[in-house]
Order: sequence, then C-alpha cells, then structure tokens
Amino acid sequence: MDSLQVYSVVWLALAAVVAGLIVMNSNLDGFTAVLRSNESLKRQISQLNRLRESLWFGILLLVTVSVVAAGQLLSERNRASEAIRASVWPVYNPETVWKAPHISLAETDDDADLIAYGRDLIARTQDYFGSSGLVRPGTINDLNCQSCHLDAGSRPFGNNYFAVMSTYPQQRARSGSLETIPKRINDCFKRSLNGQPLDTTSREMRAIVAYMRWLGTGVPKDAKPRGTGLPEVPFLERPASPELGREVYVNKCASCHGADGQGLPIPPDGTRHYPPLWGEKSYNQGAGLFRMSRLAGYVKANMPFGATYENPQLTDEEAWDVAAYINAQPRPEHPFLATDWPDISKKPYDHPFGPYRDSFPEAQHKYGPFRPIVAFYKKK
Ligand code: HEC
Ligand code: HEC
Repeated sequence: MDSLQVYSVVWLALAAVVAGLIVMNSNLDGFTAVLRSNESLKRQISQLNRLRESLWFGILLLVTVSVVAAGQLLSERNRASEAIRASVWPVYNPETVWKAPHISLAETDDDADLIAYGRDLIARTQDYFGSSGLVRPGTINDLNCQSCHLDAGSRPFGNNYFAVMSTYPQQRARSGSLETIPKRINDCFKRSLNGQPLDTTSREMRAIVAYMRWLGTGVPKDAKPRGTGLPEVPFLERPASPELGREVYVNKCASCHGADGQGLPIPPDGTRHYPPLWGEKSYNQGAGLFRMSRLAGYVKANMPFGATYENPQLTDEEAWDVAAYINAQPRPEHPFLATDWPDISKKPYDHPFGPYRDSFPEAQHKYGPFRPIVAFYKKK
C-alpha cells in the first residue's frame, strides 16, 4: 500500500468518524428534547417503528426483484446455449452419412464429466485396464476400444457407435437373448479385448454408456444412419486367399503392425504401440473381427491408417485377401463355442465354426466364396 492510499483510507475513516459524531449529536439533542415531553416520545417511537417496517418491506422487495431477475438471466443464457447447440448439432438425414457431434458440445451436457471419462476409456483403454492400468490392471489384451472403433467410435464406417442408442436393447441371435448396451459392451471386453467384463454398475460402465448416449443424440429411435458400423465389401467369386493376402500384408501393413503381426512402438517416444493383429495379445476367435466380412469391411474403409471410406487404398480383392491372411494366423481360442448361436440356422454366412443347417464346409464359411451360402438361405 503506498502513502497516497494510506492517506485516503485515513481521510475516509476520519469522515466516517465525523459523520458518526454528527448523527450521535443530533440523536442526543433529540433525546434531550424528547425527555421533556412524554407525548412527543410516543410519537417519536411510533415514527421509528413505521420506519423499521418500511425498511423491512424495502429489503423484501429488493431480494424478490433480484431473485426473479437472476432466474430470468439464467434461463435466457440456457436458452441461448441450447440454441447454439441446436444450430451446430448434426441434423439426421437418412440419405447422407451421419457425422458425429463435435466433442466440445459435450461440455455443456449435464453428464459432461461422465461423457468425457467414457470417451477416454474408449480411446485409451490400455491406461485403465492394460498391464499397468489405473482401474483394473492386466485384465485385457493389448488393444484399446479405439483400435477397432476409430476416433472413439465416431468415424463414419470406422466401426462407430452411431446406432447404439437407437437400436438397443435388441434381440441378438449370437446369444439368443435380449441384449442391453452394457451386455453388448461386455461382449467386446470378453472377445475383442479377450478380457474380463466390467461390473455393469461401475462408474466405468456408466461412463461408456453415457458417452454412447451422447454420441447417438439426434438419431431417431430404431434408425441406423448411413455410415453406421462397417461397410459391406462386395463378395469375390473365389475363396479369399491367405497367400495373396500375405503380399498385401508385407507391402501395406507390416510397416506399422510389424512383420510378425505383433505391432510396433509408435515414434517418437514409443510409449504407445501400433496394435497387434494376431497372437496372444490380439482379439480371440469369438470376436466380431474374426468374421471375414467384418475384418474385410474394417480394412477396406480404414487401413492402411489414413484410408477412409471415401478414399480407400485397397481393392476389394486386396481387402478380402489380407483379411484371410490375418485371420489364418494363430490367436486365442473361441471362449464361447458351446453357447453361441443357440439357433444354428441363424449363424451368419461367415461364421467359421459348425455345425450348420447347410452342407457347406467350415473352410467355405471361413474364406468363401460366400455367394452360394447366402443364396442357399435366401431360397429357404
Ligand atoms: C478387435 C476389435 C474390437 C475392439 C478392440 C472392440 N470392439 Fe467393439 N466391436 C467390434 C466389432 C467387429 C463389432 C461388430 C461390428 C458389426 O457387427 O458390424 C463391435 C461392436 C461393438 C458394439 C455394438 C455396436 C452396434 O452398433 O451394434 C459396441 C457397443 C462395442 N463394440 C463396444 C466396444 C467397447 C466399449 C470396446 C472396448 C471396451 C470395444 N467395443 C472394443 C470390434 C472391436
Ligand atoms: C501407418 C500405420 C498403419 C498401417 C500402414 C496400417 N495400420 Fe492398421 N492400424 C493402425 C493404427 C494406428 C491402428 C489403431 C487405430 C487407433 O488406435 O486409432 C490400426 C488398427 C488396425 C486394426 C484393428 C485393431 C487390431 O489390432 O486388430 C486392424 C485389423 C488393422 N489395423 C489392419 C491393418 C491392415 C490389414 C493394414 C494393411 C492393409 C494396416 N492395418 C495398415 C496403423 C496402421
């Protein structure tokens, strides 16, 4: 505090003391006068009482007015941010590819914290459940959810979650039961991550569901927007070939996923890895990607990394063949062979484990050609 400030404080205090003195003086004068007559004392008291009432009334009025004004200001602000959100939120159109809302829009959601946590769990699953994970270490393989659900499940044809909110709970033939979102999420924990399921009441599960709920906002009930999940790659008329796929793999995939398919450290600091494509640290044989049509669709629209559905870098043949090569390699066994597909006539054409309702061999269900199998079930 410099001297100028000290002086002004002193002067202010002095002024206050003087004002106090004046008030006291006049009061004292008043009381002295009042003491002389009882009548005027009564009048004085009743005047003071009225003054007190009007002061109380004034306070009440001011408080009410400011509460109402604050409420109005708040709801105006809410309406304004709602309008901003609505103006930039994607509009559902069945003809065009759905684009996810920008993630910054989640910050004004009532569940903002939960949504952010859910997204992080999807993008960096290793940090929570990997070998030195923060929540439950060593309970999954070497993948993140995002390894397969690109951009945290928000990329068109990148195995996104656009239709999760709109189409679950749903009857699923694989389990032969009605599946909720948490059950479906745990399916990927047990198969794609070859790990342990989450407690469905845990904060982690609630966060992942909150994120998917937010991501699906604006998609009408039962709708599957264009660009949901994975694309279908047109069938080949021959079996997909692991031998031809090996060529593709060596030329277009090994630089990131390693010649041995076990992934590679990502430069510059190498703390993260390109994910493995087969072996003990990869998805098991009960996972969606073990079906050729899912893997070919994923690869065609998204690999080599940087490819998109609009700008694919592989031909259909290359996509099928490299998928055949990857799924011909060893990986953890199917954990649920005995219970999956209780109604065998519902098995998809590319489910590579018998028994079947048809007489096509397992090898054809694995590598194709698939057209005759699909035609067989269409005729029925
Ligand atoms: C190895 C790849 C892989 C990993 C890792 C993976 N998933 Fe999946 N996931 C898939 C495939 C493939 C599908 C099925 C796509 C299809 O049938 O078209 C799928 C489907 C889903 C679905 C259903 C989508 C729908 O629209 O029906 C949900 C939900 C899901 N995964 C959540 C997760 C979560 C959460 C994680 C991480 C804990 C995860 N997945 C990890 C490959 C993976
Ligand atoms: C430039 C590096 C790069 C190249 C080249 C590349 N990938 Fe990938 N791949 C990635 C990354 C990174 C991911 C995980 C995406 C993420 O985490 O966001 C991935 C994920 C995958 C996955 C799903 C996760 C898993 O491990 O099962 C498959 C399958 C895959 N790639 C197949 C291929 C195939 C097939 C090719 C060759 C046609 C290929 N990739 C070429 C970088 C690459």
